[in-house]
Amino acid sequence: MLTGKTIILGVTGSIAAYKAAEIIRSLKALNANVRVIMTMNAAKFIGETTLQTLSGNPVYIDMFPDSSRVEDSLTHITVSNAADLFLIAPATANIIGKAANGIADDLLSTTLLSVGNKPVLIAPAMNERMYTNHIYKHNEKKLRISGIKFVDPEYGKLACGDEGDGRLASVDSIVQHVVNALMGEVVSDLKGKRILVTAGGTREHIDPVRFIGNPATGRMGFALARTAQIRGADVTLISGKTLLAPPDGVKYIQTETADQMRKFVLDSFKHADILVMAAAVGDFKPQKTEKNKIKRKGALRIDLEPTDDILEKLGKIKKDKIVVGFAAETNNLIKNAKSKLKKKNLDLIVVNDVTQSDAGFESETNIVKIIDKNNNVEELPKWTKEEVSHRIWDRIVKLVKK
Ligand code: CTP
Repeated sequence: MLTGKTIILGVTGSIAAYKAAEIIRSLKALNANVRVIMTMNAAKFIGETTLQTLSGNPVYIDMFPDSSRVEDSLTHITVSNAADLFLIAPATANIIGKAANGIADDLLSTTLLSVGNKPVLIAPAMNERMYTNHIYKHNEKKLRISGIKFVDPEYGKLACGDEGDGRLASVDSIVQHVVNALMGEVVSDLKGKRILVTAGGTREHIDPVRFIGNPATGRMGFALARTAQIRGADVTLISGKTLLAPPDGVKYIQTETADQMRKFVLDSFKHADILVMAAAVGDFKPQKTEKNKIKRKGALRIDLEPTDDILEKLGKIKKDKIVVGFAAETNNLIKNAKSKLKKKNLDLIVVNDVTQSDAGFESETNIVKIIDKNNNVEELPKWTKEEVSHRIWDRIVKLVKK
């Protein structure tokens, strides 16, 4: 989504500087080129090597470097020339004060002054008393009047232990603002659409301490939900148990068993325009769940019965809603996926070979093929799950337009 865009990320000396690492990863997942400038104080909070490795670019710190460093006397100009957008996250009261008053006394403030009329986004992070100080407010207002946009901080626990306004906005929200600033038209292509996404794996309890499950982490479904939300959709995410935090602005329902998931999905489907079923729903459940822990005494036989196929059921009642399924396969990928597409009456099916490394379960990336009703197969390269998600939404947007 941000292919060809260069974002200059300015990092200043706040405890939230560690979040710069996550911001870089999220921007890179959208294919942006990220170049980092840190203040000397930021370098006390997070390592230069971390940001350099994640961004894949040298990190600039010094205005007047010695020969061992990458900067030169024109770095502030070359870097600002390359920028499509300048993001400062986290931004301290100090950098905001300097920017508001045209002070350029280090590399970051000097580069900021030289960006001209390119978009600038500032995500402040500071103690609430600093954030509500009228001098700070005056500086922020001055910058807003001159066209600089802010990603407002959140209410929450602050570094000093107090609770209040001033905590850096979430990474999702910051990235969303970047995307909005750069790609207004693309972002809104799912606006007004009510989208239901499922994620993660279901669990079927054998007894209170044991269950039948699968290795799904929820990453693919969460990436789909996050990217749909970024593109303007009204998203409901229904997930099996996962350690992932739900994306901001998404309605989130956590479930455990296939039966619970079926109930919530059936309910939410009534209000949805589009369903993407990325959950790894278990196909079998024990005929009965023992109330007490089963004691170990030799071999154990458990009788299983099939769970309902949620997608197949929805395929029968979908009418003009768009329904997309996933297929986790180990062999005969295309043949099996095509037959699932037909049997479940899907508009698209996304198939992955779960035996491949860097694909499917427990992986940051995925290698998938998207098959449509006309049996066209689109093969995607190894992409992050965010990139795969965007491609799936691109395909769905085309179906919506038809
Ligand atoms: N699915 C579902 N309900 C189930 C099982 C699967 O809705 N009880 C959905 C999955 O979320 C996925 C699609 O059906 O979108 C295909 O799931 P997959 O596990 O690949 O295939 P199955 O239909 O379960 O068939 P099989 O396990 O025999 O390959």
